[in-house]
Amino acid sequence: MRTIHYLMLATGIVAAVAVAAPIMPPPLPDPAAAISPPLPSPPPACVLLDDVFQRPTRQHPEQRQFQLSVDYPTTPPPTVSYPWSDPNHWREYMFAVLRYAYQDNLSNEWYKPASSAATWFHAPWMGHKYSSLNRSGFGGREWAHGLTKEHKTPLRDLSPTMSNSKGQVDNWAVSIYNAPGGYTLRKVWEKICADNANQQAIIFPPGTVVVKLIFTQATSNLVPYLANDVEWKANIDEQHPDNLLPLRLIQIDIAVRDTRADATTGWVFGTFMFDGRRPIDSLWQIDTQKIPKDLRPWFHVYPLGLTWGVDPGRTNNPVELHYDPKLAATIRSPLGLQGRLNGPIDNPRSSCIACHAQAERVSGPKAKPPTERNGFERNLKPGEALTPGLISLDFSLQLKSGIYSYWNKQNANAMSPHINNVAVRQNISGPPAGLRQFPSRPRAVQRGHTRVEGSHGAPSRPRAVQRVMGIPPQPQLFNLPVR
Ligand code: HEC
Repeated sequence: MRTIHYLMLATGIVAAVAVAAPIMPPPLPDPAAAISPPLPSPPPACVLLDDVFQRPTRQHPEQRQFQLSVDYPTTPPPTVSYPWSDPNHWREYMFAVLRYAYQDNLSNEWYKPASSAATWFHAPWMGHKYSSLNRSGFGGREWAHGLTKEHKTPLRDLSPTMSNSKGQVDNWAVSIYNAPGGYTLRKVWEKICADNANQQAIIFPPGTVVVKLIFTQATSNLVPYLANDVEWKANIDEQHPDNLLPLRLIQIDIAVRDTRADATTGWVFGTFMFDGRRPIDSLWQIDTQKIPKDLRPWFHVYPLGLTWGVDPGRTNNPVELHYDPKLAATIRSPLGLQGRLNGPIDNPRSSCIACHAQAERVSGPKAKPPTERNGFERNLKPGEALTPGLISLDFSLQLKSGIYSYWNKQNANAMSPHINNVAVRQNISGPPAGLRQFPSRPRAVQRGHTRVEGSHGAPSRPRAVQRVMGIPPQPQLFNLPVR
């Protein structure tokens, strides 16, 4: 049945492109044809020990079980023209990336294919030993979809209708890497398995794509755009391993290593929001009538924004992004620090690239989770670490988390609650220095309150801020016209 659906979907894509040829961009190359599937080969040895961080699979009558996809390619993937190399408009670019991921994964419900070699891969050792999860004791993947727990989101950040709410919701996510990303994961983990002290910089090749599906506990009663949802049932109840609870798709993140962004970071980070109330976007370039009913909700995601830099030093009107202000207004404004890009569930005082710039290799007690304060100073190049002397993990926070978990496992002493609690406290304490450094209108004031959040920062800041504001705007380097 699934295969039939998939064929219908693929035919729909081809048909739509052919019929509408005069007004559509040139037909997209088929990524599956362009990249020959890698031969299955065993993963690096220590990757297989990952299951300490995955809950034991359960026999469940209704629910398939997650399997880690770690038979990474053994040879570097060939240089090909990817579907997103052509589009000149940011929304089309984002749809081209997501369509590429959907073509390979949607009909298989994002599981590792049982019968053929995998073309998408997972990062191992997602133990999150430094995350807030540790407070409840478990940090690995749940067994139904391989989801790991994200930070909580205050409901007021998800929708203007919740602006008076004090509640918070949990979010869970799973990410997949395409073949160039999977090849890099193999290289990294082969070195780590052989010698964990080995500290070589990591660089993902151009063409690497990572897609992250983010699900929330929030419902459409609270957050209106979650109507007509994509629902997954997952074992998010740590006390009861047989229990499955519903989660709803709220956000899809993409990270693409793209040479067109080399003038800033070399990476393009984009985020889609789910909105089940809107019609399916024509930029998908598919015949929407042919989408199987059970897959239709997946097509109700809309490009919220795309960013390729942190806009160093800017205090307002960032330029290293495109975003959709109308869509953003259905969530919150601004989405990220002083208008930088962040997704619905993300911390509005951070931004995609600033947070990911903190992907650097640290071991043991020194390892800290990324914070909302760091990463805004400059645009890092691939392979450049934010902290002098540390090793870059090329914007991959999953690698940071995985390598840290592995280090912890090897160094049992370092797994003491004390160390983990220090990390947890650093994650949640105090007003964000980011706000003090580059103040925007404080969020409390935006909502019509008089209390000024974060105003107890260093008194000498305002003059420094004036100087920062004097910096002339930087040219828009990732040159996709706004549409
Ligand atoms: C405050 C920090 C923070 C912000 C802001 C943030 N992320 Fe992440 N992101 C993480 C962490 C931590 C991980 C690894 C853990 C996980 O996968 O859950 C991650 C994982 C990812 C991954 C999987 C690959 C990788 O690099 O590890 C992608 C893709 C991603 N994020 C995209 C985005 C996008 C797009 C945005 C902005 C819309 C964003 N992130 C904002 C912290 C952040």
